[in-house]
Amino acid sequence: MNRDIEKVLFTKQQIEERLAELGAQLAEEYHGKKPLCICILKGAVPFLSALIQQIEIPLEIDFMSVTSYGSSAKSSGVVRIMKDLDISIEGRHVLIVEDIIDTGLTLRHLVDLLEQRNPASVKTVALLDKSICRTADIEANYVGFEVPNEFIVGFGLDYDEQYRNLPYIGVLKKEVYHIG
Ligand code: PRP
Ligand code: MN
Ligand code: MG
Repeated sequence: MNRDIEKVLFTKQQIEERLAELGAQLAEEYHGKKPLCICILKGAVPFLSALIQQIEIPLEIDFMSVTSYGSSAKSSGVVRIMKDLDISIEGRHVLIVEDIIDTGLTLRHLVDLLEQRNPASVKTVALLDKSICRTADIEANYVGFEVPNEFIVGFGLDYDEQYRNLPYIGVLKKEVYHIG
């Protein structure tokens, strides 16, 4: 295990098992609808990559980049679009794929933005839900796991761009982000 990790919350195997369940549910919901799965860079990359392999129906993917955290551990409350979608979502069934919902500001902003573009539907799937930190009025349609109010990294989630490559989800040691 990485020496900066306090404890593992979800192992690689636990994540894989949950994604198989989510994938089956999503395949049922989107059967015959050729959904467009929108990966929110960068945190959702490992989740999108693993999840779509479990959704055994025709689908498409695209990428958007919005940022609200930067290198700080706390949300700035500012949501900026850094990269927009490559394709039109008009008439499409859109599934926004996020790694975590914390305050909900990012997802609330994204849903509102995409709904203005005349899609057939907009739904959301989040690997992790830190619901205790919610300030925006939003819940994901599909959630992998509920997580406690701790600093969580791995499987796409970063602290200062590090730890995204961990194959598990864990709690970061306080001494790593409490410097001085
Ligand atoms: C993180 C995370 C979500 C968002 C959740 O992204 O990946 O996108 O914050 O926080 P919120 O619910 O409080 O809005 P971040 O902005 O750190 O960018 P990243 O995905 O590139 O790490
Ligand atoms: Mn993100
Ligand atoms: Mg981040």
